[in-house]
Amino acid sequence: MSKIIVLMGAPGVGKGTQARLLQERHKLPQISTGDMFRELAKEKTALAEEVRAVQAAGKLISDDLVIRVVHERTRRKDCKHGYILDGFPRTTAQAVMLEHLAIEQGKKIEAIFVDVPFAELEKRTTGRRICPVCGEIYNIYSKPPKSDTVCDLHPDVKLTHRADDTAEKIKVRLATYEEQTQPLLDYYEASHRLHRIDGTRDPEAIYADIEKIVNRKS
Ligand code: AP5
Ligand code: MG
Repeated sequence: MSKIIVLMGAPGVGKGTQARLLQERHKLPQISTGDMFRELAKEKTALAEEVRAVQAAGKLISDDLVIRVVHERTRRKDCKHGYILDGFPRTTAQAVMLEHLAIEQGKKIEAIFVDVPFAELEKRTTGRRICPVCGEIYNIYSKPPKSDTVCDLHPDVKLTHRADDTAEKIKVRLATYEEQTQPLLDYYEASHRLHRIDGTRDPEAIYADIEKIVNRKS
């Protein structure tokens, strides 16, 4: 049975970093709801304006809209042999939807919780820089680009800093996470589908643990 790998954890724990490694090495599509909505937010529509405001405030986009987007995306051919969900589900309603989706698609859910103390997350998020062309994720403290402001692979392109990656917005995002998403960890734990991983280590050490879960036959 193919798997739906759910990467869970607070803002900045390294979900995107690990999802990108899995996508590259396992050819499993990375479905990041955060990235999808940041793309949508670039359009010039009323919906894009609304999404941009919600993301910038560190609040959650409505379940209705997120669920529709995930449903549509996971029906595509590239998801046939499994996929990685990065940042979904984040609410009970989203988790319920995913149960139905997994049954409908004949897939098994494996929830991976990347655990990092909140105190470390401000540095990870405020220090994050992203290449707008390839999506490569840098950090000015732990993974700086070769040159201060540009991507190693795209030297003509200036790295970007997310609008919600300020010290003030991180507080709101962490509070939103604690209130709405953290309870889902108990939900997956109770059904023996939660894998806890120490996210304070080197990304490769974290990846090695995640890979074991992805490769496990069951
Ligand atoms: P989203 O984009 O999902 O943001 P997030 O959950 O807050 O997580 P981040 O992307 O900030 O962090 P990450 O865990 O991916 O860490 P990364 O690998 O980049 O969501 C943004 C917004 O979109 C939400 O606030 C909401 O508005 C909306 N949204 C998205 N999904 C939604 C949903 N399902 N429902 C409703 N609304 C939704 O790493 C962070 C930094 O740390 C990087 O600089 C990286 O280089 C560094 N780093 C990574 N790993 C390590 C390591 N092991 N050691 C040291 N540094 C590391
Ligand atoms: Mg991310």
